[in-house]
Amino acid sequence: MTTAEDLPLLPADDLRVYRRSLGTFPTGITVMTAAHEGTRVGVTANSFASVSLEPPLVLWNLKATSPSLPVFRESGHFAVNVLAWHQEPLSMRFATPADDKFAELDVTDGLGGAPLLDGCAARFETELVHEYVTGDHVVLFGEVRRYNNFHREPLIFLRGRHCRLEQPLIG
Ligand SMILES: Cc1cc2nc3c(=O)[nH]c(=O)nc-3n(C[C@H](O)[C@H](O)[C@H](O)COP(=O)(O)O)c2cc1C
Repeated sequence: MTTAEDLPLLPADDLRVYRRSLGTFPTGITVMTAAHEGTRVGVTANSFASVSLEPPLVLWNLKATSPSLPVFRESGHFAVNVLAWHQEPLSMRFATPADDKFAELDVTDGLGGAPLLDGCAARFETELVHEYVTGDHVVLFGEVRRYNNFHREPLIFLRGRHCRLEQPLIG
């Protein structure tokens, strides 16, 4: 017997309901960073994924209208800062448009000058190798040149909220 629960919806019916459904997929949270000619950018992103091991490729999606896009493109590098459980304030900071999201924040320069954040769960420094414009986003592909695993519990994003793993797995 078919119940109301089985009836499929269309994304165009209600975008908020569609987004809420996408939000049932739990992810980690990253801050993607880059720098070019003295301008530093950082964007909170949960669209990060590993694509290939050999060569080591990763990707993420950036809104095509983002004012940060030209810096990511011109830099030719980006760093993936995988946030640890206690870094929700950094997630919020880099998800909020601002002239200088790095104000009063201690960072070090990574490959291509990409800012590296302290206290992360892991970090991947990449060279931008491809981009693919599709829909309202640009998919940026990076080849990983260096990385660190700091063995900290990651911050989780689920149903539109920041959360912690119920049973933290460290290592
Ligand atoms: C948990 C979380 C994940 C996000 N993931 C993405 C993402 O993958 N791609 C994206 O373009 N924006 C994402 N955003 C929104 C951006 O962080 C936000 O729009 C930010 O202001 C973009 O930086 P900009 O203002 O420099 O363009 C996310 C926000 C949050 C809170």
